[in-house]
Amino acid sequence: MALLNSSDYRVAAKRRLPKGLFEYIDRGTEAELAMDDIRRSLDAIKFRPSVLTGHSSSDMTVSLFDRTYPAPLIIAPTALAGLVSHDGETKLARIAGRLGIPFCVSTQSVTAIDDIRKGAPDAELWLQLYVWRNRDLTWGLLDRARNSGVSTLVITADTPLSPKRDYNQRNGFSVPFVPSVRGICDIASRPGWLCSVMLRYLMTTGMPTYAHYPAEFKTAITRAAIAEDVKIESAISWDDIAEIQKRWTGRIIIKGVLSVDDAIKARALGIDGIVVSAHGGRNFDVAEAPADVLPDIVKAVGDQMIVMADSGIRRGSDALKYLALGADAVMIGRLPLYGLAAGGEQGAQDILTMIIDEMQSNLVFAGAKDIDAFRRAGIA
Ligand SMILES: Cc1cc2nc3c(=O)[nH]c(=O)nc-3n(C[C@H](O)[C@H](O)[C@H](O)COP(=O)(O)O)c2cc1C
Repeated sequence: MALLNSSDYRVAAKRRLPKGLFEYIDRGTEAELAMDDIRRSLDAIKFRPSVLTGHSSSDMTVSLFDRTYPAPLIIAPTALAGLVSHDGETKLARIAGRLGIPFCVSTQSVTAIDDIRKGAPDAELWLQLYVWRNRDLTWGLLDRARNSGVSTLVITADTPLSPKRDYNQRNGFSVPFVPSVRGICDIASRPGWLCSVMLRYLMTTGMPTYAHYPAEFKTAITRAAIAEDVKIESAISWDDIAEIQKRWTGRIIIKGVLSVDDAIKARALGIDGIVVSAHGGRNFDVAEAPADVLPDIVKAVGDQMIVMADSGIRRGSDALKYLALGADAVMIGRLPLYGLAAGGEQGAQDILTMIIDEMQSNLVFAGAKDIDAFRRAGIA
């Protein structure tokens, strides 16, 4: 089947991945209300086009911080991308390098930042940080990122706890993989994935797990001893942000901001940027949708810091909607994962190229010669 839109990629990913893993990347949390609300908030936005403008293409170049990018896109941090396709994080980094956009590596990646750097020497790598309870281990991760040439730290602020995802409890999905009858049957039902991903790891680097976690986490016998240390800090606060600022001299972005007050606090601390994000509807099921809060946040801090947005982008027009609401750039989470599952490195590159092409054609339909003109025209 030809993969012509992101739904096609999603269906192909569903066929390819074990159910537990597919649901982990695809679904939301609790009653999955936030995912519907994010969709509703984007679907409600319309544009009023200008016609007869004489533009057959639009310039999508944007300046972010001190750099120019061919499109206002960042590959979002997604835990366990390396389970979706063998070496998935390195593949995403290489794609980002080819497209000239940043890739934000997750703290919970299957391949560590230093190894990703070796596989993608030219990519602009950002690191997403979950602050662990053990701060010394957390600071060790910052050192690793610095030594790997990471320019930008993205601190995730919207995940004080592990979200309740009933479906993953039912289907037995966990990392590291804990064998259960259900889990083994699930994996056995996807022999393509089993051979090209799981067995490939088992024959080379061993059972895939969170690569940034200390070695003790990787073996069943010592895991319990270290598990508390690498739990995400529930009580993370603005004091932690100030502490990180002392230890990280590069750029800092806070991800998961949904309120004007928090955006103002971030700005007051001298933070370089924020991501207005509902974590793709995966965390807090009754949170407001980013599109509903973005205009107020941009009004409050948009001329003093970079404001990015994410959640729910399935078409190029969705990305443009966030830009029209004032975002400087957008992050995309699930689509590169569907692409990786459906067609490996080429699949992930194709889906991102498709989104860029859709953005381009929608800008032409809107009659905007570039992103700035489009943002100035605003929404209908
Ligand atoms: C499978 C998966 C894993 C994710 N892991 C992380 C993570 O480790 N850290 C983080 O800050 N956000 C994580 N996110 C959230 C994304 O960075 C992003 O905010 C979200 O996916 C955007 O919504 P979208 O998937 O609809 O594009 C994850 C999202 C998915 C789908």
